[in-house]
Amino acid sequence: MEGAQRYFDKEWQRTGYCGDVSGKSGEELPIVVNGWVRRRRDLGGLIFIELWDHTGAVQVVINPELTPEVHERARELRSEFVVSVKGKIRVRPEGTANPSMKTGEWEIVAGDFLRLAPAAPLPFEIGELTDKVDENLRLHYRYLDLRREKMQRNLRLRHKIAMYTRNFLSAGGFIEIETPMLTLSTPEGARDYLVPSRVNPGAFYALPQSPQIFKQILMISGFDRYFQIVKCFRDEDLRADRQPEFTQIDIEMSYLVEEDIFSLIEKYLQGLFKETVGVDVATPFRRMSYWEAMDRYGSDKPDLRIPFEIVDLSPVFAGSSFEPFRDVAAHGGYVRGIPLPGGASLSRKNLSDIEEKAKRLGARGLSPFQIKDGELKGPLVKFLDESSQSLLKSSSSIGDGDALFVIAGSDRREVSEILGALRLELAREHGLVAKGAWEFLWVVDFPLFERDEEAGRWSAVHHPFTSPCSEDVALMDSNPGEVRSRAYDCVLNGNELGGGSIRIHDPLLQEKVFSCLSFTKEAARERFGFLLDALSSGTPPHGGIALGMDRLAMLLSGATSIRDVMAFPKTQKAQCLMSSAPSAVPEEQLKELCIKTVPAVPSEANAPAREKTDPK
Ligand code: AMO
Repeated sequence: MEGAQRYFDKEWQRTGYCGDVSGKSGEELPIVVNGWVRRRRDLGGLIFIELWDHTGAVQVVINPELTPEVHERARELRSEFVVSVKGKIRVRPEGTANPSMKTGEWEIVAGDFLRLAPAAPLPFEIGELTDKVDENLRLHYRYLDLRREKMQRNLRLRHKIAMYTRNFLSAGGFIEIETPMLTLSTPEGARDYLVPSRVNPGAFYALPQSPQIFKQILMISGFDRYFQIVKCFRDEDLRADRQPEFTQIDIEMSYLVEEDIFSLIEKYLQGLFKETVGVDVATPFRRMSYWEAMDRYGSDKPDLRIPFEIVDLSPVFAGSSFEPFRDVAAHGGYVRGIPLPGGASLSRKNLSDIEEKAKRLGARGLSPFQIKDGELKGPLVKFLDESSQSLLKSSSSIGDGDALFVIAGSDRREVSEILGALRLELAREHGLVAKGAWEFLWVVDFPLFERDEEAGRWSAVHHPFTSPCSEDVALMDSNPGEVRSRAYDCVLNGNELGGGSIRIHDPLLQEKVFSCLSFTKEAARERFGFLLDALSSGTPPHGGIALGMDRLAMLLSGATSIRDVMAFPKTQKAQCLMSSAPSAVPEEQLKELCIKTVPAVPSEANAPAREKTDPK
């Protein structure tokens, strides 16, 4: 009998998990299970309960003839009530097995149950259809959203990644060292999250954008091989693969060259993929220079699962009578195109939609070609003689049934980026991204600097501690834009999984880079003096990498957003809908911190930070 005297005690503690229930025919094994009522169905006098815990679900049957009082009480059970059930496992009666459930051959015949907690009516049903529920509602009730199998699977996978990482790196002689969260700004290209210091009125800590400077200092201190699974904070525009706080697998090594990082990470990823998803990853990964990636794929994180790439058509149009393109080609500009296999079937309307897309991406216009029944068609065909037409076909490898989209412009990067974005969109729309493929590559030879036209100065493409290639050091004064860096990115299926570099270990070279980045000597000293001093105290050559753990978990789990592999992610507006952070704070608290707030005014300062080619 249920009564006030019945509490959750040892007697009601589970002896088995819901998802592990099994037994033999003819046996009736006693079991106690604890969990949530996922569903209750009343059928032909029997009550069926799907009881769930983190291992899976099992069916519980309550028979009014065997246990009338228990049956009566079970009528009030609703979804997500927490119960403990005592009963016996038996093989389900002939014809009632459920092959879609892991425990579908068995059921528990309840002898008794204890209601441990009721649940308020649910804002949405927890199950396979929860994905269709508005994400903001799910984030508001994240504790319920996390109760579903997919989220449980994702977070458990994440745990596996962390465990594998710690074991792999520890076995390789790396040690995990924690670096401070309350620190100075670490330049990684985003805005800082600031934390006021009460005991130092008017002074602020910055939350780390990465542990970059600390891990370098650990090399100077002689730790030789460091790693950390670490939270980083960046106040930047958010999207599916970016969060304001995220986790890096951060690594640094002394006395290394690029090859050491490449082989370490390749071996790590190979083992991780095998262990977590059973995938065999081929190594070594492909390598490609930044400019090759830009020219061929219009991106510094090319998706190599797409079987077509950007083609150079300047030689075709240099000899054409189509003046706008001929002029661009004659003046050292770029006429380039993107083929679309099977694109000959696109209608006039489809073509103009694609042109609109290109314009949205920044193109002035887009010229389509199609080969239908062996004949080259398109508004520019009349400007091409026969040999130019065959050059166009051979350069772009298009054949009957295909299409080609051409643009022209004077900026190499801009032309490629537009076509690169079009390549991704067209491949996705037309189902041309190879399924089940894992395309890894290293992108190398990034430029060290890029021009920030708005600010009228050079900025670091990676971060200011990245070493230039020694052959290019001489160009730092004469032609900074041409200096290549010793940075590398690890790319998987079009996602930047990680990035790193060989660092500057010579304080004079570091000062030189600061000066190229328009820091005065005094400003560099004020901001990075401690690093310059440390570099002057006997610094081994060193370098490292950081992998985005959220992105890794996203790709391994097949999720399309890193929000799905984080327990409590933030929205596009950097809010936690469950806890309502960020929030206003009482005036008293501000006073204590010597802070006065002013009403928000939309201004330049509040505008999102400018995105780089590959914003980091
Ligand atoms: P980087 O800025 O390239 O390098 O960052 C390394 C990796 O971290 C992940 N990442 C993010 N993931 C989710 N949300 C974000 N907002 C976000 N920003 C970055 C990406 C990225 O490749 N200190 C250097 C590393 C080094 O040089 O060793 C750094 O932080 O997967």
